Amino acid sequence: MERMNLLISDLDGTLLGDDESLAQFAHWFAYARSCYRLVYSSGRFVESVLDSIQSTVLPEPDAIIGGVGTQIYDVARSRKFPMWPPLVIEWNPFIVQSIGEDFSELKLQPSKHNSQHKVSFYGEDLDESFLKHLGDRLASKGQLVSLVYSSRRDLDVLPAKSNKGGAALYLTRRWKISAERTLVAGDSGNDAAMFDAGFRGIVVGNATPELKAMNSPAIYLAKGCFAAGVLEGIQYWQARNVSSQQTRVRN
Ligand code: GLC
Ligand code: MG
Repeated sequence: MERMNLLISDLDGTLLGDDESLAQFAHWFAYARSCYRLVYSSGRFVESVLDSIQSTVLPEPDAIIGGVGTQIYDVARSRKFPMWPPLVIEWNPFIVQSIGEDFSELKLQPSKHNSQHKVSFYGEDLDESFLKHLGDRLASKGQLVSLVYSSRRDLDVLPAKSNKGGAALYLTRRWKISAERTLVAGDSGNDAAMFDAGFRGIVVGNATPELKAMNSPAIYLAKGCFAAGVLEGIQYWQARNVSSQQTRVRN
């Protein structure tokens, strides 16, 4: 296992949203770069994330997870990581789209937000029973999917393991970084899969209720908003790391 740490953070509503605290984050990372790898994980596709890096003070990351986990991009090599997303036979975007279009509650997102591995809809205030019903319909047509619902509006249908959590696990295994050394930060439903994957979580203060409702000792709920919340969470987990190392030394 590597002794390197890893920060995987969402962008919109997490690192992006307040310019002043983003500048503080960039300042912190300039010093932390030697001991942290940095990954941005977004619902947007990689090209759009690269545009944000160009047009803001966001530091250059090591990798970008795009399209809610359906793409992983190696920034230094300017190319996608191999073998991602994993090939699955239980996924056909045309079948997924046509089943979704049968439901009057759903409206397909514009094609620029969709790909062969991501079929996204808009659907206001969908409840658990609707999502269960949709999942069952898709399963009955042989589609093994991950249903990701965010902000009571965006419904992403993805191949089962290709969400933000699956993509984060792929990178930690590839880079041999332990779950204990991996921090994940987010603000809305599409980040939930990262918090379920066993890493150390940071939920920013401005997060949506769906994410704030995730309650676990492995999730730190920051008071600060946007990048300030991410920095607060990093400090929290660093302090815990130090104290657990001291405990180990004493024992
Ligand atoms: C981004 C994507 C959109 C997705 C949403 C939630 O806004 O562009 O397609 O539904 O994130 O994951
Ligand atoms: Mg977000």
